[in-house]
Amino acid sequence: MAEETGSGSNKDGLRNTFSVAVFLCLVCSIVVSGLAVLLKPMQLLNKELDQKKNILRAAGLLAADSDIGSGGRTVEEMFADFTVRAVDLDTGEYTDAVNVDAYDPIRAASDSAVSTDLSAEEDIATLGRRENVSLVFIKTNDTGIDKVVIPVRGFGLWGTLYGYLALESDLSTIAGLGFYQHKETPGLGGEVDNPKWKQGWQGVQLYDDVGQPAVDLVKLRSPANSNAARFEVDALSGATFTTRGVKNLVNFWAGDLGFRPFIEKLKTQQMQASVGEHR
Ligand SMILES: Cc1cc2nc3c(=O)[nH]c(=O)nc-3n(C[C@H](O)[C@H](O)[C@H](O)COP(=O)(O)O)c2cc1C
Repeated sequence: MAEETGSGSNKDGLRNTFSVAVFLCLVCSIVVSGLAVLLKPMQLLNKELDQKKNILRAAGLLAADSDIGSGGRTVEEMFADFTVRAVDLDTGEYTDAVNVDAYDPIRAASDSAVSTDLSAEEDIATLGRRENVSLVFIKTNDTGIDKVVIPVRGFGLWGTLYGYLALESDLSTIAGLGFYQHKETPGLGGEVDNPKWKQGWQGVQLYDDVGQPAVDLVKLRSPANSNAARFEVDALSGATFTTRGVKNLVNFWAGDLGFRPFIEKLKTQQMQASVGEHR
């Protein structure tokens, strides 16, 4: 085989190899960054759709294994029944301080300008900080509020569990709880995703008779007709830490530092509306 000796025409020379490598790197990086930019809006849309599904699932309006609701309604159609509002967690009032379409309460919690540091005693869900403004998802029907869904999160054993808690129209009875992200062990803490366990949340009372969060996760259930049984959900077996985390996060977000001021206000409004109707 003839060997090329001239430095200008040597295709296997160091300079040529280096130029080809640089050119290929350049082309590849342009393709990858171009695709990332092009696909970003699609990723955001998918993320948004996923959150809508999680909210609908927590509210019991969409089965875990389906993307279509009763009557063949799509996720978008069903979610259109919900109003998304921003709530000032300290006052319980709606606020226009943020744009609900772009606002991320979890991100806000890491910004000291728009979140509150929690003391060890307050921080039962191990959050560190709590955002000052969060979002609520409200479904209404002809008679008023049908469902209210609130975002919840808190530490389990291996990390933070993120989910949604849905309330029935009385704003005290739980309609459902679902987590869309967590790091708990499959088969142990990961049983938070077990549909059978999740079903056990339906109908449980979030608040006791004086309006305090009272959910309890227990290994041994109280007699069915007892008062305590109204607040009880089965503990996850072999997952004491996750169980405690779930109980704490639900009660935190239902409490004074969470959505309680807002829920109390809604209850008062409901009461006033019903008194007005009966006059
Ligand atoms: C590999 C491994 C993974 C575990 N994952 C979890 C978990 O996700 N959640 C949890 O509460 N406990 C988990 N545990 C168990 C805890 O260490 C602890 O034993 C358990 O919470 C005790 O629960 P019990 O009192 O119901 O048996 C795990 C243990 C091991 C060895």
